[in-house]
Amino acid sequence: MTPEVAETIAGLRARLTPVRRAGARIGFVPTMGALHEGHASLMRHARRASDLVVVSIFVNPLQFDRPDDLVRYPRTLGRDLAVCESCGVDVVFAPGVAEMYPEETVCAVDPGRVADHLCGRFRPGHFRGVATVVLKLFQIVGPDVAYFGEKDAQQLAVVRRLVRDLNVPVVVEGVATVREPDGLALSSRNQRLDDEERTRAVVLYRALEAMRADVESGSTDVRDITKRGAFTIAATAGVRLEYLEIVEPEKFQPVRRVDGPVIAAGAMWVGDTRLIDNVRCVPRGAEVAGR
Ligand code: PAF
Repeated sequence: MTPEVAETIAGLRARLTPVRRAGARIGFVPTMGALHEGHASLMRHARRASDLVVVSIFVNPLQFDRPDDLVRYPRTLGRDLAVCESCGVDVVFAPGVAEMYPEETVCAVDPGRVADHLCGRFRPGHFRGVATVVLKLFQIVGPDVAYFGEKDAQQLAVVRRLVRDLNVPVVVEGVATVREPDGLALSSRNQRLDDEERTRAVVLYRALEAMRADVESGSTDVRDITKRGAFTIAATAGVRLEYLEIVEPEKFQPVRRVDGPVIAAGAMWVGDTRLIDNVRCVPRGAEVAGR
C-alpha cells in the first residue's frame, strides 16, 4: 500500500496519537531521503518489529557544515516514496524547512565529547545539528524504537548518548551497514560518483579491512595500524584521506593501544564527494572475555 504522507507536525500527530493510545508499537526510521538499500534494511527491521512504521524524509540544514553540500544533496521524493512502499512503511513524514524550523533561533542539543573526534573534528556543528533534529523528530513522532545505520557509527553513538543523557523514552537499534559486492558502503553520496570515482571509492573500505586484519592478528599499536591503513589509501590516485582513526566504541575517544573491541573509522574525498565508513575490530579473545 502507498504510505500516507504527512507534511505538517500537526497532521502527523493527528495520525499517530490514536495509534499510540491503542497501544501500538511505533517503529521509526529517520532519513534525509535519497533512499537506498541501506535505508530499506532499516525499514525492514522496523517493519518486522513494529505495528506501525514511520519514516521521516527531511534534509536537515542544521547539520550541513558546507552550503554547497546542502544544495547538492540529492532530493528524490517520488522515488523515495516508492522505496517506502516496497518496504511496507505506513506513514512518511516529509516536512519542509519552515515546518521544522519556523524561527531562526533554534535551541540546540550539544552532543558533548562523543562528537569531538572523527567527523566531529572536520565538520563543525554537524553533530549538534544531527542531535537537535533527531531529538525534535523523537518528540514529534514519539516512537517506541528508532533505527539507525551502523555506517554512521559516530552518529549512532551521538544518538545513544542523547537518549541516555536526556532520558528520551525510545529504544535505539543499530543496523549493520549494507555494502556493494566489492565492499563499498551504500551511501546517498555514492550517487555523485562517476565510474572512475566509484572504482576508487572502495579503497577506504579496503584500508579499514586491513586495519581490522591487523587488530585481529594481534597488533596493538594504533599508530602502526593506522599508518598501514593510510598507506593503502595513499597508493590510490585521485583520492584524499581526511582521517583514519581508531576509537573505543562507546565514547568514541581515540585509544593508543588496542586492548578490547574498537572502531576503525575513516573519511576520504573522491573528487568533490566525501565518503565515510567504519569497521568494528575485535582482538582475538576479547569477545569471549565479554569486553
Ligand atoms: O543519517 C541521516 O540521514 C541523518 O543524519 C538523520 C539521522 C536523518 C538526521 O538528519
